[in-house]
Amino acid sequence: MTTIKRVPIAPLLALFCLLVLPGQTAEAEPGDVVLKRFSPSLGDFAPATFPHWIHIMQYKCPACHDALFKMKAGSNRISMRDILAGKFCGKCHNGKIAFASTFTTCNRCHRK
Ligand code: HEC
Ligand code: HEC
Ligand code: HEC
Repeated sequence: MTTIKRVPIAPLLALFCLLVLPGQTAEAEPGDVVLKRFSPSLGDFAPATFPHWIHIMQYKCPACHDALFKMKAGSNRISMRDILAGKFCGKCHNGKIAFASTFTTCNRCHRK
């Protein structure tokens, strides 16, 4: 009888890990943010997407929040001109810390 009672624990634990744990990490770690376009756009040129995950692997939140970026989607007036001048993403995406904005890298940020 005791062995029969013990059996369901393993599948229940597995189910807990599958259903509950991913939900918790999704809440703790912000995901991709599609950045709002403030500057005049080139037709339907794809907006830039900011992937949190690759940055969070290397930086703590205060590396960007709130000195570089306010923590609210669409609240930062980012433009290519500012990035090329070393502001916002350009603080790191300058060819030294991370890949720069060149014609071979446009689509790494501007993804359809
Ligand atoms: C490091 C990431 C990054 C790279 C690389 C990058 N951009 Fe951007 N770009 C942005 C962000 C962020 C914005 C502001 C949000 C938006 O408008 O999509 C932006 C905005 C723009 C805009 C809207 C108008 C403007 O001037 O702000 C255009 C057009 C644009 N980029 C073109 C390009 C082209 C062409 C390249 C390659 C030469 C490029 N971008 C490379 C991040 C990047
Ligand atoms: C490399 C820079 C960077 C790092 C590091 C970073 N963020 Fe962000 N975060 C951004 C950018 C860029 C945005 C988008 C701002 C915008 O849309 O104007 C953003 C937006 C957000 C938002 C708003 C999302 C929404 O939908 O409104 C939250 C919440 C957030 N970040 C939390 C965090 C937390 C928590 C950490 C640390 C685990 C973190 N960020 C690390 C750059 C960063
Ligand atoms: C604090 C420094 C820092 C800031 C600020 C920053 N990045 Fe990055 N980013 C990095 C580093 C480091 C990498 C990984 C190294 C590399 O790919 O050159 C990276 C990688 C990326 C990648 C590549 C993801 C992939 O699929 O390989 C994208 C896209 C990107 N960043 C977009 C952005 C955008 C858009 C912004 C501004 C909204 C931004 N980053 C701001 C440091 C930064």
